[in-house]
Amino acid sequence: MKKYYINTMGCQMNVHDSEKMAGMLEEEGYTCAESPEDADIIIFNTCSIRQKAEQKFFSELGRLKPLRKRKPDIRIAVAGCVAQHKGKSIHKRAPHVDFIFGPQNIHKVREIIHTSSDFVFVDDNPALADMEFPAHREDRIRSWVNIMFGCNNFCSYCIVPHTRGREKSRAGSDIIKEIRGLAEKGYKEVTLLGQNVNSYCSSVDFPTLLVEVNNIEGLERIRFVTSHPKDLSPELVCVMRDLEKVCEHIHLPLQSGSTNVLKKMNRKYTYNDYMMKVEMLRREIPEIAITSDIITGFPQETDEDHAATVKALREIGFDGLFAFKYSARTGTKAADMEGHIPDKVRSERLYEIIETQNELTDSKNSQIQGTIQEVLVEGYSDKSPEIFTGRTRTNKIVLFPVHSSLKPGDIVQARIEKTNRHTLDGTVISLNT
Ligand code: SAH
Ligand code: SF4
Ligand code: F3S
Repeated sequence: MKKYYINTMGCQMNVHDSEKMAGMLEEEGYTCAESPEDADIIIFNTCSIRQKAEQKFFSELGRLKPLRKRKPDIRIAVAGCVAQHKGKSIHKRAPHVDFIFGPQNIHKVREIIHTSSDFVFVDDNPALADMEFPAHREDRIRSWVNIMFGCNNFCSYCIVPHTRGREKSRAGSDIIKEIRGLAEKGYKEVTLLGQNVNSYCSSVDFPTLLVEVNNIEGLERIRFVTSHPKDLSPELVCVMRDLEKVCEHIHLPLQSGSTNVLKKMNRKYTYNDYMMKVEMLRREIPEIAITSDIITGFPQETDEDHAATVKALREIGFDGLFAFKYSARTGTKAADMEGHIPDKVRSERLYEIIETQNELTDSKNSQIQGTIQEVLVEGYSDKSPEIFTGRTRTNKIVLFPVHSSLKPGDIVQARIEKTNRHTLDGTVISLNT
């Protein structure tokens, strides 16, 4: 029996692309290997969002050289965003790579098996949105479903439009069919995936799609990532408020609290526009959790711009935040701008952002201490077989003692006894059935 090993880096899109590649290989009779040493095919599903992610990939790839020497029949493939961005130049740095194909060409994974010659596939593939893939899903409770691919926004720092191509939405009927199939298999939660989910547009728009997904029997929870603030419409907020399965959480990347910087980033909203969207969300859905992304040290960012971001964090009070040091990506507009910020300053600003948010996250979490929350049981905690892990509708992780009448997939009411920065400790008070 032949075996594959997939090393996945980057975002949820890549995680799900890997599930699809695994599904295609399994259709061809392959099984999953425990380690690269046991595999006949090794696939790197790569990320190029920041320099660090790319470096990590190249160093892991380099480490495979001795293995390839020992086992010359092993085939090595590079998929994902680095494959798309760097194309055949990867061969120069790593001659032991056999196949290179980008995220729009994941179906080429099947050809690895049927060809004896190397290949590179990095062409745009507008047909991607119409293709069906047999995904090998790791989770039995939560599932990920692409609703659109690519991005048209060209934020000036971002590599994604250069690696994932232009926006393409899947047909609503294909999406509904896929989610219905998942609900029939017992999946309780679906996360709709897209670089820019709320610009989804086919014969139906995104709010209408949510209404249709909400009607699927057996499904309990709907989430979606990632939303762009400029496309967050009042219609969308109203369906989020009204549909019982749509969870009270939104990830809404702000990137900077300075309107000057937002303009240079080509984000197409001001800080004030963003604030108004936050107010609308909280007015309509008071319990909503809002999380965000921030980039520190964008070219030309002044001390005042940075201070505006710190002030914005305090003003908004996010439930959670991912903060990143700006990383110049070749081929993007920002990489060619004047006024790059020294690493030391970018790091100091990052530190201040993280410290500020830690304090805010703690105080935000402490507000729900003692409350009763609906929790979907996801499985056993990595730390102990006696502890279950689950999530609130607001996407906070809850840990609670295993209960003999409960299993993953059940929904319970839990009291939040203690709050920590990244998890909440709870006790089950009743089953939801
Ligand atoms: N499509 C999503 C997410 C894209 S990548 C969105 O628009 O929000 C996830 C996050 O990585 C971004 O929100 C941004 O904060 C960060 N990011 C993207 N490019 C970056 C870069 N060149 N340097 C540092 N962080 C970056
Ligand atoms: Fe990148 Fe901006 Fe597109 Fe998000 S919306 S993927 S940050 S270009
Ligand atoms: Fe990385 Fe590509 Fe996702 S660059 S973050 S894997 S879209």
